[in-house]
Amino acid sequence: MSFVKFLGIGSSAPEKVLSNLDFEKMIDTSDEWIRTRTGISERRIAESNIASSDLAYEACVKALEDASMDIEDIDGIIVGTITPDHIFPSTACVLQSQLGAKNAFAFDVSAGCSGFLYALHVAKGMIQGGTNKNLLVVGAEVLSKIMNYDDRTTCILFGDGAGAAVISASDTPGIMSSCLGSNGDYWDLLWMPAGGSRIPTSEESLKNGDHFLKMEGREVFKEAVKALESSSLEAIRQAGITPDEIDLLIPHQANYRIIDAVRRRLELPEEKVFSNLDRYGNTSSASVPIALDEAVKSGRLKKGDIVVFSAFGAGFTWGASVVRW
Ligand code: ACO
Repeated sequence: MSFVKFLGIGSSAPEKVLSNLDFEKMIDTSDEWIRTRTGISERRIAESNIASSDLAYEACVKALEDASMDIEDIDGIIVGTITPDHIFPSTACVLQSQLGAKNAFAFDVSAGCSGFLYALHVAKGMIQGGTNKNLLVVGAEVLSKIMNYDDRTTCILFGDGAGAAVISASDTPGIMSSCLGSNGDYWDLLWMPAGGSRIPTSEESLKNGDHFLKMEGREVFKEAVKALESSSLEAIRQAGITPDEIDLLIPHQANYRIIDAVRRRLELPEEKVFSNLDRYGNTSSASVPIALDEAVKSGRLKKGDIVVFSAFGAGFTWGASVVRW
């Protein structure tokens, strides 16, 4: 059995909405600036007692239900996140406990906004290698907890949410290709400086705001367009198809201008690109699985369609995957 398939998908987002109009009252910005520069109208924000594992739990329960699978059948949980509940243990272990996944191993991957595609790549390899059968692959973030709401260049971009997929061994093709890349030379263009072993949390780090996400937006933008295009084309090549055979592209939801530049480079018509960025903002690791869940539930992605996922994030990291749904 050498194929790997998506058996179920689910997502979750907090109820509370933070709109561009809300931001107009908080910082020097405007709904017009945010919409024209990013495509975002609103984002979801978690209550103060909610952590990434809580949103991940809700998404996993829905994915298991969608797959008609019992938690006992899950033999591994891989979580992509840059906002883990704690530095250690992994959010995947906390989630394992919440789910009661007694027969699973659990670990996190840290790959910025590419976290879900990194986790998917690892899961695919484990299943194809024959060591595992049914894995939960998750992207979960509570980015509002690491936002500096005085920094208008970042705080308007990000939101909270989670998406999860049940990935299983199959007799028929599903994931047709998956490729990853990274360039660590850019590690400090998108990062959270403090809280690790280089800059432990201290009075000084708090005073400097080093516990918040920091980003050089223009550089990220340029590299994101290049890497999303090249990794998508590589995944398409590895899958043995041509771009005109794609039914839907689900790119990382960071900025509509990035999405549109990639769409044009891949010569895809607008109707073949899925976006829900306007309602969620950038949810990092969660963006692709939340969008996938909405694409499936809304009927935009149908059984037998060919879908391409692509993502780019902190590191820099990137990845793409072609799936026959
Ligand atoms: N409201 C109003 N004005 C603003 C705001 C705001 N929220 N933010 C910045 N500006 C101002 C700037 O101060 C600047 O003013 P100045 O010319 O007087 O200096 C002006 O707008 C233009 O700023 P730029 O940074 O050049 O704006 P740009 O068009 O590049 O848009 C943005 C900024 C939206 C951040 C863009 O660079 C971008 O989307 N970058 C990619 C970000 C991204 O996708 N990150 C996620 C990657 S994935 C991950 O791993 C998290």
